[in-house]
Amino acid sequence: MADSRETVNYHAFVVGFPIKHSRSPLIHGHWLKTLGIAGTYEKIEVAPENFAGFVADLKSGSPGLCGGNVTIPHKETAFRLADEMDALTDELGAANTLWLEDGKLHATNTDGIGFLANLDDRHPGWDRHAERAVVLGAGGASRAIIQALRERGFREIHVVNRSVDRALQLADRFGPRVHGHAMDACAEVMQGADVFVNTTSLGMAGSQVPTLPFSTLASSAVVTDIVYVPLKTEFLLQAEQIGLATVDGLGMLLHQAVPGFEKWFGQRPVVDQSLRDLIIADLETHP
Ligand code: ATR
Repeated sequence: MADSRETVNYHAFVVGFPIKHSRSPLIHGHWLKTLGIAGTYEKIEVAPENFAGFVADLKSGSPGLCGGNVTIPHKETAFRLADEMDALTDELGAANTLWLEDGKLHATNTDGIGFLANLDDRHPGWDRHAERAVVLGAGGASRAIIQALRERGFREIHVVNRSVDRALQLADRFGPRVHGHAMDACAEVMQGADVFVNTTSLGMAGSQVPTLPFSTLASSAVVTDIVYVPLKTEFLLQAEQIGLATVDGLGMLLHQAVPGFEKWFGQRPVVDQSLRDLIIADLETHP
């Protein structure tokens, strides 16, 4: 933790390639300001061939950084180069949060925490019937969400993907409650489901979105999306039009940032409307 170190370096980062569009500095900058912490949080662009060197420098302590976030395309490499991690991150094989503690580089993945916290915050009780969930997509974001749904107690998690092989691989990886399917099984597995999550890029500005049979979900179901540009995606609109509860993807981005901030700066920040408004205004100015 930041306050347990002898020399406190309140300097954190987000590293990626490219990194120009990251909203993380805005999120952490807002918390640093509102909590009155004299820290910094900066974007660092590192090309894949230089990432191992970046991590070696970080471990040596010479740049004076206490930790940071890792984004595309470095999440798997960060996981491999870390010294310590929790069991869930080990299972995922990808890290998005790093920090130095007792001379070691610790790693975790907070995407699942962010996903769950967003739903808990925006639609409390969403997991009351933790029976069947449908996850569209089988990429990196999907893995963290499948794991989170499994940890929350969902009994059946159906992963539907354009490339069925990737869905089947995730079913193998995450155990008997997870099932993999091709896209044409979507209608069947959606029947009576309690949660539907889009983890693909479908619905990002300009992309064509299929019409899905949301009316066959349980009437108490919630539909959520990891896409947050636009905030109200086509999938959310389709679900909303037939009266289902929906939760947009922005909160996942905000909540996944909380554990890292607490590690680096020693205080737990809150996700509130003022932070949401700040990021929405930025998305409107720089979509
Ligand atoms: P991320 O790490 O952000 O999840 P990814 O690993 O590239 O990104 O995964 C993107 C997901 O979106 C995949 O499930 C991908 O399907 P494939 O595995 O078949 O590639 C899905 N996806 C992207 N574009 C899609 C489209 N036009 N139709 C259906 N699925 C799409």
